[in-house]
Amino acid sequence: MDTIGILGAGAMGSGIAQVAAAAGHEVVVCDNLTIALSKAGKGIQASLKTGVEKGKITDSDAYSLFSRIRFTDHMSEFRNCSIIIEAILEDIEQKQIAFKSMEAIVDERTILASNTSSLSISAMGAQLKHPERILGVHFFNPAPIMRLVEIIPGLQTNPEVVERGKKLIDGWGKTTVVAKDTPGFIVNRVARPYYGEALRIFDEGIADEATIDWAMRDLCGFRMGPFELMDFIGHDINYAVTEVVFSNFFYDPRYKPSFTQKRLVDAHFFGRKSGRGFYDYREGAVKPEPNRDEALGREVASRILAMLINEAADTLYLRVASRDDIDLAMTQGVNYPKGLLAWADEIGIEKVVEKLDSLYVEYLEDRYRCSPLLRKMVRENKTFY
Ligand SMILES: NC(=O)c1ccc[n+]([C@@H]2O[C@H](COP(=O)([O-])OP(=O)(O)OC[C@H]3O[C@@H](n4cnc5c(N)ncnc54)[C@H](O)[C@@H]3O)[C@@H](O)[C@H]2O)c1
Repeated sequence: MDTIGILGAGAMGSGIAQVAAAAGHEVVVCDNLTIALSKAGKGIQASLKTGVEKGKITDSDAYSLFSRIRFTDHMSEFRNCSIIIEAILEDIEQKQIAFKSMEAIVDERTILASNTSSLSISAMGAQLKHPERILGVHFFNPAPIMRLVEIIPGLQTNPEVVERGKKLIDGWGKTTVVAKDTPGFIVNRVARPYYGEALRIFDEGIADEATIDWAMRDLCGFRMGPFELMDFIGHDINYAVTEVVFSNFFYDPRYKPSFTQKRLVDAHFFGRKSGRGFYDYREGAVKPEPNRDEALGREVASRILAMLINEAADTLYLRVASRDDIDLAMTQGVNYPKGLLAWADEIGIEKVVEKLDSLYVEYLEDRYRCSPLLRKMVRENKTFY
């Protein structure tokens, strides 16, 4: 079986190493910090121990899985790898330097892949002698649990490399979707309004956080409301992603970050991990009750849902990904109760367009412009499925 290289032994690198070793590969994990390597080893062992306790893996399988992973601080050990997945810090220059060094070690057929969540794959390939081997493979956190992997070819990537990379990762029991090299790929783009529109509704005082969370959870079937979810992800992380997506889209107002969230970050109210975010997680704190007014809840939910569907429709319209991959990505990557395009059919595309147009007329903001695809489908009386 192929030997897999992983550069960066942090949260993502160690998770991906565990996934590849579980599929039977020999794995080489390289990090320039030896302390990161020992932490990764301990982390994988702890995760395997939990697996054994839950009966998901036998003791001896866990032992042999771990013995397939080699930890090193020498990149030269990547020599025989057929693919190297880079998961170092999110910095384009650092990643370009790393790819150039790795290219000097491996042979021509080795795929050089990046787990970046926001940077351009084409830009990573630009510095390579063989840029046709660059590929984005975006795992979600925690990699051993989350099934979705977005596969992103750069402008220079050879289609054979895409096929090979996709087939390999499919073989690891993951669900792969292919996305164009555009900001946020599929999930981090389509999911933006879940946070952004919820924050806008909150900022306008239409409903409070508990009510918006209740509406999205109890009336729509999302596992977590937007505010609970932002508190869980951490506002530092969630705000940073929003800022990157906003600037990468040349400041399209659709992706505009919120001052409310920025202030939480300024105050270090990062959410669950810091004890305070939108909600108070300190001992003895009482969670506020939502206003269970169904009409209000439906109004909030229909607005957020219309914005999500609009983003999914534009993602299809601009050929970032296929209909099936967009719906698959949102259901498997972030556990949405339904694919957004299938949901649009269920609600009625005409109703979604009406909602968006009413927001546009009210606010006269480009943020609420309806996707031309939705308008065209109404005109032609079409559905997504
Ligand atoms: N954490 C997430 O939820 C998540 C999800 C999807 C994608 N990503 C992306 O995955 C990548 C890694 O994220 P993470 O959360 O695992 O980061 P992390 O900070 O946990 O780990 C990064 C590791 O890379 C090592 N490193 C840095 N520069 C290096 C170099 N030049 N050579 C070798 N090792 C080096 C660091 O020592 C560290 O151990 C980033 O590009 C990030 O955007 C993160």
